Order: sequence, then C-alpha cells, then structure tokens
Amino acid sequence: MTEQHCPYAMDPNGHDVHGEATLLRGRGRATQVELPGGVVVWAVTDTALTKQLLTDPRVSRDPYRHWPRWENGEGEFARTWPLAMWVADRNMITAYGAEHSRLRRLVAKAFTARRTAALRPRIEAVTAELLDRVAGLAEQGPVDLRAELAYALPTRVISDLLGIPDDLRAELLRIVGAWLHGPASEEEAAVLAGEMYALLARLIELKRTEPGDDLVSGLIAARDEGDGAGLSEQELVDTVLLLFTAGHETTVNLLDHAIHRLLSHPDQLALVRAGTASWDDVIDETVRLEAPFANMPLRFAVEDIDLGDVSFARGDAIMISFAGVGRDPVVHGESADRFELGRPTAREHIGFGHGVHYCIGAPLARLEVAVALPALFARFPDLALVEPADGLKPLESFISNGHRELPVLLRPLETAQV
Ligand code: HEM
Repeated sequence: MTEQHCPYAMDPNGHDVHGEATLLRGRGRATQVELPGGVVVWAVTDTALTKQLLTDPRVSRDPYRHWPRWENGEGEFARTWPLAMWVADRNMITAYGAEHSRLRRLVAKAFTARRTAALRPRIEAVTAELLDRVAGLAEQGPVDLRAELAYALPTRVISDLLGIPDDLRAELLRIVGAWLHGPASEEEAAVLAGEMYALLARLIELKRTEPGDDLVSGLIAARDEGDGAGLSEQELVDTVLLLFTAGHETTVNLLDHAIHRLLSHPDQLALVRAGTASWDDVIDETVRLEAPFANMPLRFAVEDIDLGDVSFARGDAIMISFAGVGRDPVVHGESADRFELGRPTAREHIGFGHGVHYCIGAPLARLEVAVALPALFARFPDLALVEPADGLKPLESFISNGHRELPVLLRPLETAQV
C-alpha cells in the first residue's frame, strides 16, 4: 500500500491513547506511524484486518528472523532504540512457528482453566488481606486503589506462581516498573537492564539449588533435565521475565480501569448489583473499552502481503492498536466509545489477542478480577472516586494503558451500616 499521509508521530507519553487511536482509524485500516527513535511502522485499528494478520503465517513476531532493521540484534540500532525491550527478548511472544509452539508448550499446562481455577482460594485470601489493609489506610484519608489493590494483587499472585520470594519480588518490581515505564535515558536503560538480569540470575540460581513447587523451578527442570526441547538459558530467563511482566502489568490496568469505570458509571454498577449484568461482563467490557495493552509492538511481514486495499512489503513492521480495535465502530456500533454492560457484541473484543499468541494468562487475569471486584464492592459499598472521573492522569506510555493513581474514599461496611 502506498501511504497517502506522512507517518503520524505517536505520542510516547500516551497523553490520550484513545484520541490517538480514533485519529489513526480516520487515516485507514492500516496507517503509517512513527515510533520513538524514528522507526516507521504500520498501525492497525481495524478488527477484521487485525484478526486476519494475527492468524496469517506470513506475519511473524520474531525480529531476529523477519525484521531486517533489527540486524539480528547486533547493531547500533538494537543497542540504542528506546523500544528495543519490546522485541529483543527470546521467549514465546517474540517467537515464530515451531519455535513459538515449543516455548509456549513449556508453560501452557500451568495456565489451563483447571490449574487456574485451583488458585481461587489463594487469590481470595490475598484479596481479603489487601482489603483489610485498605480499610486501615482509609482512616487516614483517601486510598490509592491502584497501588493497594490493582497492583498489589496481580503482583503477589504471579510471584507466588513463579516462586519469587518476597525480598526478590520487591526489588524486581521496582526495576521492572522503571524499565517498563520508559527509562529516562539510554544510560539508565542499560543500568536497569543490567540490574534486572542480575536479579533474574539470582532467582534462577536460588531455584536451582532450592527448587520448589513453582513455575520457575519447573522451567529449570525442563531445561536441566534435557526434556525442555532445547530451552536455552536465555530463553529460560526471558520466559520468566515475560511471565512476570505480562502476568501483572495488564491485569493491574484492567482492575484499575474496571474500578474507575464502575465508580464513574453508577447506573452500570447498579446493573451488576441487581444481577442484571455479571462481573464477567464488567471484565469483557473493560478489556474492550480500555485495552490494557493499548498498542502492541511489533510484528513483521515475512513476505510481501497483498490484501487488496492494504498491502505490506516484506520486512515491514506492524503494530496492532488494541485501543483502536476495541472501539471499532464497525463491530461495536455507534456506542463503541461508551461503557455499556450487556452490549450484544460484548464477547467480540480481542483485547486478550487472537491466534497463536492469544494471551496464555487470560483465565488467570479473569479470575483475579472476578474475585477482587465483588470483594471490593461488597466490603466498601460507599466507595467513591476522589477526583472527577476524567481528572486522573494516565500512565506515561502509549503501550500500557492505566492511571498513575486511583484515589478513592471508602467507608467499610461496619460503619456504613451504622
Ligand atoms: C487483563 C490482563 C491481560 C491482558 C489484557 C493481556 C493481553 C494480552 C495480549 C493482547 C496478548 C497478545 C499479544 C500479541 O499477540 O501481540 C497477550 C499475550 C500474552 N500474555 Fe497476556 N494479558 C493479560 C494478562 C496476562 C497474564 C495474567 C499473564 C500471565 C502469565 C499473561 C501472559 C501472556 C503471555 C505469556 C503472552 C504471550 C503468548 C504467546 O506469545 O503465545 N497475560 N496478552
């Protein structure tokens, strides 16, 4: 496709990810955008085209094999590109074909619906503990529910699953948080990456000497016992990193947005309380409307792809705008921008992805939110936002879509009933 427009420069600080997605949609099903570092890629906002690309073997997520610009990760570009971390790791999310199946199969069993359901009692216990803490903090004034619940729950759950001890967890979260939300400079990025890989090496060393009933120990056994279908040490480390990061960041955003949307739409909350809508409906509507991954870098055309009105040249890079796709009016109609539980297209969103890279942790994310939301609203029926609904600041990112803080006022049930 010959682009009719100059590439649109994406706002690296994500001041208005949805406004930006609307603008991109107005430019076509796929349009060229410039990412930080001057990299021009195609941004896709159309649901049908996204589904087509995500199931097309001519589209890969592996920059080492299919992105000439990446130069096998060995050049100046790979060292200095601010978004390199989104493509550089060697794990399932950046793998293609048989490599992808091999890496995904290693952990898939840990995330089946059955294995996930078994985590419910633990998730309920952590939620109850966190809500006790929230109740205590509320005596001093507003509570930041993003930090105290939306962030605290998924980080605890994924750390338990991976077997990350408490002291390492706090340190890893600090570094990963700074790394994910855009280091200030190339130097800072290098320092953070060094610290992060040193910590992951410590974790793996610990689990090699003292294995437990956890996912990291399982991956190490698969590698060391030789039945890991050739899992390399780097793939092991990068798989742990992927599960840790993907396993919390998006769920944090989902919980944050779901609470925010319910508090700013009392009519919709009333539907849930009346049993007319379910907590699952809240999850789907929030994932659709708010796309915890607003934009997902990157995919690559393995060969020239001609789809009629849209075509990609071999080696072109493609970014799916899940923010745009979730509000696609062709699928969700005129009300696509509104939070409406029970819409007929409720289950037609692809906010958890589509095709072979479909989110492996979707059942876990759903379970965490389906436990946390009812517990929160039952315990604090008078929960209210402190800021006006549109007064919250977004994260400084065009990839991760959430608020920096979610301050609320609450009165625990005991006092509310007095
Ligand atoms: C609300 C929560 C979540 C959302 C919205 C979400 C969204 C997504 C999306 C859109 C993809 C596809 C990426 C692509 O095709 O480019 C994906 C993949 C993935 N997600 Fe999630 N995710 C969530 C929670 C989780 C959790 C809790 C885990 C736990 C480990 C997880 C692990 C992964 C992994 C490992 C992949 C890569 C799968 C593959 O490449 O085969 N995610 N997720």
